[in-house]
Amino acid sequence: MNEINKEFLKNNEIILERANSDNVDLLIQWTLDPVAQGPYKIVPNVSKDQLKTLFLNNKERHYFLIKDKFNRPIGRFYYREWKFDRDIGKIDWELNIFIANPDERGKGYGTAAQSLVIDYLKRLKETKSIFAYTMTSNIAEQKSLEKCEFKFMGNLPNKYYKIDLDGLNPNDFVLFVIDNFSND
Ligand SMILES: CC(C)(COP(=O)(O)OP(=O)(O)OC[C@H]1O[C@@H](n2cnc3c(N)ncnc32)[C@H](O)[C@@H]1OP(=O)(O)O)[C@@H](O)C(=O)NCCC(=O)NCCS
Repeated sequence: MNEINKEFLKNNEIILERANSDNVDLLIQWTLDPVAQGPYKIVPNVSKDQLKTLFLNNKERHYFLIKDKFNRPIGRFYYREWKFDRDIGKIDWELNIFIANPDERGKGYGTAAQSLVIDYLKRLKETKSIFAYTMTSNIAEQKSLEKCEFKFMGNLPNKYYKIDLDGLNPNDFVLFVIDNFSND
C-alpha cells in the first residue's frame, strides 16, 4: 500500500485520489446524477458550488475519486468523522461509496475500495469504530460490507449510532460496524 501525493491509497485493483481541483467537476457531475448514485441513494438538493466547497474544504468528510488500475475514474468515496461518544473523544468513521457506471458494478471495485480504507482507518489511534448503513434492499452493498468483515447490527435506529436520516424511515436501513480494534 502506498500514500503518495494525490494518490492517497492504492492496491492492485484501485487507486483512491483525494478530491482536488482537477477531479472535483467529475465528482460534482456524478453526485447530481441519479444513475451514478444508483437506485438506493438520493441525489442531494444542493448547488454545484456547495458541492465544490464540501468536496474540497470540509474538515469532517474526506472525499476521494476512485480509479481503476488503468487510472480510469470509476466512482466516489468518502469517509466522515463522527464522535458519538463525547466522553471518549475517539472517532466513529462512516463510509460512503458509489461506483458511478452501472456497468462497472459487481466487478469487485466497491469491496476493494472499502477494504483499502478500512485497513487505513483501523491503524489510526483516534479510531473507535467504522460503520456504514445502507438500504435493506441494497444486497450488493450488504454483501460487500460483509466481505470487508463488518458486523451486521440490524435495522436503524441504533442507540449508539445516532444518524440523522433526514426524514427517511430508519427501518428501511441496516447498519454494519467494525469496532474490535487494538489500536491504543
Ligand atoms: C454497492 C456498491 C458500492 C458495491 O460495489 P461493487 O463493486 O458493485 O460490489 P462488488 O463487486 O465488490 O461485490 C460485492 C458483493 O456483492 C455482490 N453483488 C454485486 N452486485 C450485486 C447485485 N446487484 N445483487 C446482488 N449481489 C451483488 C457480488 O457478487 C459480491 O459478492 P460475492 O463476492 O459473494 O459474489 C456498488 O454496487 C454501487 O456503487 N452501487 C450503487 C451505489 C450504492 O448503492 N452505494 C452504497 C449505498 S450507501
